[in-house]
This record gives sequence, structure tokens and C-alpha cells, in this order.
Amino acid sequence: MTQPILKSHQLAKRFGQFQALSDVTLTVNPGEVFGFIGPNGAGKSTTIRILLGLIRATGGSATIFGHDVWRDSVAIHQRLAYVPGDVYLWPNLTGGETIDLLLKLNGNAHTTRTDHLIQQFGLDPTKKARTYSKGNRQKVALIAAFSQDADFYIFDEPTSGLDPLNERLFQAAVLKLKAQGKAVLLSSHILSEVERMCDRIAIIREGRIIETGTLAQMRHLTRTEITVTTHRPLAPHQLTGVHAVQAGPQPNQWQFSVDASALASVMTQLSAAGVVALQSTPPTLEDLFMHYYGKE
Ligand SMILES: Nc1ncnc2c1ncn2[C@@H]1O[C@H](COP(=O)(O)OP(=O)(O)OP(=O)(O)O)[C@@H](O)[C@H]1O
Ligand SMILES: [Mg+2]
Repeated sequence: MTQPILKSHQLAKRFGQFQALSDVTLTVNPGEVFGFIGPNGAGKSTTIRILLGLIRATGGSATIFGHDVWRDSVAIHQRLAYVPGDVYLWPNLTGGETIDLLLKLNGNAHTTRTDHLIQQFGLDPTKKARTYSKGNRQKVALIAAFSQDADFYIFDEPTSGLDPLNERLFQAAVLKLKAQGKAVLLSSHILSEVERMCDRIAIIREGRIIETGTLAQMRHLTRTEITVTTHRPLAPHQLTGVHAVQAGPQPNQWQFSVDASALASVMTQLSAAGVVALQSTPPTLEDLFMHYYGKE
């Protein structure tokens, strides 16, 4: 059996009286893109900061490449790349200088891959970092991370400021890492992104992993949000697999969520009523959690 890249066991973290993490048990294997999802304040960034050796756990244990994340963080960081959600840069360095510095700090150099990434993400590397928008600051950190030759990449909500085009580029770059057999831990609020890319997912809530597994194992949790306007009257309440029905605001318009398993049959019924307009949105984490806990 191959050794896991990351292994944490009942990781816990207390800040004073506040128990931020109480039971975080995770395994990330080589070649795996692992999704880490959960609502605001659930403990994703705290977990990641422990894994990076920035703060110390108050309970449990965690290893990366078989090394203890607190004691051996220097050794671990030689093979690790990290991008936070809020990227702070040195305001007076240009984007290009920042990328080179970030690379150097990790013992890496600017390569043709770096140039290619700068071009791909459409970053102007000659501008001072203080003039960059949030998305451009994120690009700087992403370019530095993707041009490193690491074995494990940790991204903490890296696409929160990216436009759809750059989000795609990010996803393509992650899939390329996966194809090279690298491991990726991706914390994200964008469920569709996680769905598209991740082999396995862990859901964290109030400092505890409440669900972990493959997408196939979790599919029973997913629902699609539908907003539909039809020619003829519709009675969505009567359709199997339809939940949270709301009428309007327009005449003959409905909003509801549909179980993945019922989507095909619901679509057939909708088109029978003559679809004028239809919008479907993948479930948000909020929906997922409501669904998950509503059943208990
Ligand atoms: N240094 C700290 N001192 C006290 N409490 C903290 C500290 N850092 C985090 N917390 C608390 O720990 C909990 C988990 O925070 P964390 O930042 O890990 O959440 P998150 O899952 O990353 O949320 P988000 O999706 O908003 O980024 C929160 O209640 C937060 O207020
Ligand atoms: Mg966070």
C-alpha cells in the first residue's frame, strides 16, 4: 500500500475557551484531489493552518509525507505549495517580483512554466501589487504555486475572487497536477467546482468531519435548484423528488429543488407544461446542509 500524503487523526484545536476543532480525521492519497467543504467558521482554515504548521493543534495528530506537521514543518514545506483565500502581497513589489520572491522562499526558481502561467492567467507582472484587485492578487499566489514542483498542493478557497474564465484555468491546472499524480487539498464554497474536480470530499461542520467519501457515495445529498416559467399551469408539489416549492415572483413561475435521482423525470414533466424559461443551479452548501440535517 502506498503511504498517504496527509493523515490526520482526531485533530483538535481550542482557542481559549472556544473549541474550534474537535474531531478532524482526514486521509489524502497520492494522485487524489480532495475537497474540503463546510460553512463559514466550520474550521477549514484552522485545519489548514495546523497542517501548515502555522498554529499548533491542542489534540490529535497529523502527518504530511509521514512527517509530523508541527515538528517537521520545514521539511514538509520543501514539497508543499499553499495558496490562501485572502492573499496579502508586499505592496511595493510588482506582481512579477512577488512571484519570483514566493518561488525563491520555497527554494524554487522562475521557469518557462512560470512565464506560461503568467500569460495564461493574463496577469500584468509589471504592476505594483498594491494596484492589484483581489482576483489579481490571487492569481499571483496561484501562479507561484502552480509553477512549483511540489508533491502536495493546499488551496484554501482559491477561486473566491476569480472570474469564471480564470476559475476554469485554475481547475484545468489542478486537473493537470492530478494527472501527474500529485495530491491536492482544496477547500471551497463552490460545490460545482468540488464536484467537477474532487475524488473524495470531507464535509466539516462546527469543527467536526460529519461526512467523508467519494462523490458517488455522497450523491444522495445533492439537489439541483430550479427556477422555471411554464406556458401551462404546473403543480410542482405533486412531483416526486421535488422539495422546497415556492411560487413566483412572476406568473407561472416556480422555484424548487430536485433530487439528483428525480431530475430526468421532473424535466420531462416540465417540458410537458411548456417551458418558457428555465434556470438550474447546483446546490449550495447551505442547501446541502439543510437537506442533510432536515432528514435527521
Ligand atoms: N485565532 C483565533 N482565535 C479565536 N478563534 C479563532 C481563531 N481563528 C479561528 N477562530 C474561530 O474558529 C472557527 C473556525 O474558523 P475558520 O477560519 O477555521 O473557519 P473556516 O471554515 O475557514 O470558515 P470560512 O469558510 O469563513 O473561511 C471560527 O469560529 C473562528 O472564529
Ligand atoms: Mg476559511
